Amino acid sequence: MRSLFHKTIGFCLLGFAVVSCHDKEDPNYQYMPDMYEPVGYEAYGEYDVFENGQEAKLPVEGTVPRGWMPYDYENTPEGSAEAKANLKNPLPYTQDNLVEGKSLYTIYCAVCHGDKGDGKGILAEREKILGIPSYDDAGRAITEGSVYHVMYFGINNMGSYAAQTTIKERWQIDHYVMSLKDKLEGKPEREYEEETEEQTQLLPSRADAEVTPDAGEEESMQDNENGQETANNQTETQE
Ligand code: HEC
Repeated sequence: MRSLFHKTIGFCLLGFAVVSCHDKEDPNYQYMPDMYEPVGYEAYGEYDVFENGQEAKLPVEGTVPRGWMPYDYENTPEGSAEAKANLKNPLPYTQDNLVEGKSLYTIYCAVCHGDKGDGKGILAEREKILGIPSYDDAGRAITEGSVYHVMYFGINNMGSYAAQTTIKERWQIDHYVMSLKDKLEGKPEREYEEETEEQTQLLPSRADAEVTPDAGEEESMQDNENGQETANNQTETQE
């Protein structure tokens, strides 16, 4: 009995010594730390806890990236016919848009379609890709809408350019393609239009996405009767 009493005292003293020697600067012991420490998953890591084992998730269906607008026409013969008949280029036909369109066309399209749009690009000459039409091909009778549709979805041997180009860039290329068509058909050059701020605002593109005000901000700016502030901000950063 006595020895048990001594043992207990000795044990308590030992425990006390251990506890009192603990440096208060150090984090203390944690029991069941799951309650305190959040689990930090590595981006793109593999974890069993997630469905299909991946940390990275696909966006919810119907998600629209910032600065991106859904395209209304379907990738079907009907959708294509509708776009051909109804879809119009919302960008004004300005020199800036045409110059930009030309440089993008030279990067993305000229290898096949040729600098003049006659279907005699370097890949056609070397017979790497066959069946490239000239833009004045009467059977195709391309329109602003059909050109955009083809860039968006691609057609047979021609791939889609939706991933490489922004909405605005595609419409700039579109203007340039239509100008090549006019030239091939011997039509007079189309006159340039004036750019208005309203029209610039029409088209969000991924390049502009960072400067688009947050939803909340936007609202308060729209409350401003003239909305002038937003317009100025955008044109400044675009330059
Ligand atoms: C890899 C070669 C290649 C590239 C690059 C290419 N195209 Fe094409 N394009 C084709 C071929 C081939 C066709 C004919 C497809 C068919 O109808 O079978 C075509 C067809 C077209 C047509 C006619 C579609 C119609 O309505 O019948 C247009 C307009 C067009 N391309 C525009 C472009 C534009 C604009 C670009 C650049 C963004 C581009 N293409 C890049 C190969 C190419």
